Amino acid sequence: MRLGVNIDHIATIRQARRTFEPDPVKGAILAVEAGADQITLHLREDRRHIQDEDLFRLRRVITEVPINLEMAATEEMKEIALTVRPDSITLVPEKREEITTEGGLDVVQLKEYLTDYIKEFKEAGIRVVFFIDPVFAQIDASKEAGADAVELHTGEYANAKGKDVDREIERLKKSAVYGKKKGLKIFAGHGLTYQNVKPVAAIKEIEELNIGHSIISNSVFWGIAEAVRRMKRLIKEVRGEV
Ligand code: PXP
Repeated sequence: MRLGVNIDHIATIRQARRTFEPDPVKGAILAVEAGADQITLHLREDRRHIQDEDLFRLRRVITEVPINLEMAATEEMKEIALTVRPDSITLVPEKREEITTEGGLDVVQLKEYLTDYIKEFKEAGIRVVFFIDPVFAQIDASKEAGADAVELHTGEYANAKGKDVDREIERLKKSAVYGKKKGLKIFAGHGLTYQNVKPVAAIKEIEELNIGHSIISNSVFWGIAEAVRRMKRLIKEVRGEV
């Protein structure tokens, strides 16, 4: 199982003072050295954390692992992404007022638009991922629209309490099995932490997790290399890879 480390919140700290540190690109280099299998970042319309220049610099220095760009399906982002050429794009819904991405992309509603939107990315050899809720209809629509992979939104699981936790894991598992059978690659992410990652990592159909806030938060105490290594270790333990 691959671990994509989302570096957005390194930039959040920098933007709190509009200064030069901490540098998310430096964080990405250290994360890769510590075992990150991918670097993920979200260039938001409001540029609240990652800036365009971060993305361009990242593309120049990160060569050993893929770069996954999370973005809204807008014309502005398409132009930037086709210039930078990340290895994959993950299309997410984006609202200005939200604290973080809330809910998955409604591919059922947006199917025609997305089918057309992703054509140039596919022609450019960029992997296309849709970030969706673990719902069969969204998986069907993602396949029909031409996505290569879906990232299952684990936010509901992360927020669940008591019996709901098992129910959410069951939903994720069923969706992962269903999506894989349809020929989609299955990823997952959002709200995953050192405390809650294991049941998701245990779902064998899921081949990639993208984790940001928890890793970057704990980097304050442990350093980013140790924070990445500890998350990798948890994942490997569950997958029987150690
Ligand atoms: N995956 C997607 C599609 C996201 O939008 C985010 C948040 O940017 C993440 C994963 C990482 O979420 P978190 O920061 O909660 O780990």
